[in-house]
Amino acid sequence: MRIILCGFGVVGQSLVKLFVSRSEDIYAKYGLKPRVIGVFDSKGSAVDSSGLDLEKLIEVKKKFQTVKKYANTKNNMSGIEMIESLDADILIETTASNYKDAEPGMTHITNAMKHKMHVISVNKGPLALAFPSLMELAIYNQVMFKFSGTVGGGTPILDYAKNSLKGERITSFAGILNGTTNYILTNMANGLSFDAALKDAKDKGYVEADESLDLDGLDAAAKLVILANWIMDMKVTMPDINCTGIRKVTTEDIKKATKNKCAVKLIASCNRELTVAPKEISIDDPLCVNGTLNAIAFTSEHSGTQTIIGRGAGGMETASSILRDLLDIRQEISRT
Ligand SMILES: NC(=O)c1ccc[n+]([C@@H]2O[C@H](COP(=O)([O-])OP(=O)(O)OC[C@H]3O[C@@H](n4cnc5c(N)ncnc54)[C@H](OP(=O)(O)O)[C@@H]3O)[C@@H](O)[C@H]2O)c1
Repeated sequence: MRIILCGFGVVGQSLVKLFVSRSEDIYAKYGLKPRVIGVFDSKGSAVDSSGLDLEKLIEVKKKFQTVKKYANTKNNMSGIEMIESLDADILIETTASNYKDAEPGMTHITNAMKHKMHVISVNKGPLALAFPSLMELAIYNQVMFKFSGTVGGGTPILDYAKNSLKGERITSFAGILNGTTNYILTNMANGLSFDAALKDAKDKGYVEADESLDLDGLDAAAKLVILANWIMDMKVTMPDINCTGIRKVTTEDIKKATKNKCAVKLIASCNRELTVAPKEISIDDPLCVNGTLNAIAFTSEHSGTQTIIGRGAGGMETASSILRDLLDIRQEISRT
């Protein structure tokens, strides 16, 4: 399978490391031979239509902070040129999520679909702003569009709701979908002020470069949009979410919750309305996870409520979700 990889940051590099370390067993078990023929970061690109040397690619990125120095050539293709000229089967989109115009991911995804490439995205921006139209574009161009890693990182939340609960009618769901705010709220419950808890989260590298994505609930809202479209067949985008972040949560709110054997959590819920807001939940509720963990509870008509808990982020975890999507695509291709 010939792959174009957009973005070579934490997730992109983790994916390539996963390919290197698992190449033999992925081939032996699944017959899958991923061949990365083009990759680009914000400074340039590397191309080899017979397949890039992945170990060299990682070394070059580490040494020069860009893949541009992979080959001694001045000829540096842009992402769009790569999509238009390389004969790839799949585009994997791992550039930064942006909820203003979803670029550059939106242009990569739409162009790849128009060029009949299947698409895997861990970038939430394009899905948050245009899920319904991207789905239509994929159907129109008869390509597969997969995005397991956008919700829950490596925890297969979307697959669970869509496939394991097949035939069920999910009536509502609620979840903690942002590990950073959960870490901050957990530390506040352990006695830190909001500012001290935020500083600690920043020191540990948990907070996005634009902290508003975490603190104002935008990351959780983007994941809620993806869940609502994919699981509940709602045709919604970011403006449809009623969103409040955690900036106004005070130490008093946390103390009051603790007195009631509750904890304050940033909950994304779909129960007639789509809401992201801090809420008090019982400490006995399975949803009440601490630290950077994510959790989501699905309530369905006949099988009751089930809660899935797992790490919602991490380079390798998210790379493993991309591998799952790749294997799904390969399986579906070999069926047709
Ligand atoms: N990290 C996680 O745990 C996780 C989990 C789930 C989903 N995600 C999503 O996955 C995506 C990647 O996350 P990450 O942690 O790998 O981010 P990252 O480390 O910041 O990597 C982003 C990559 O995109 C490249 N890039 C940015 N703007 C670009 C542009 N205009 N043209 C070409 N390349 C551009 C960057 O280039 P440079 O290398 O030159 O800076 C970098 O290689 C994000 O959308 C994120 O929301 C991440």
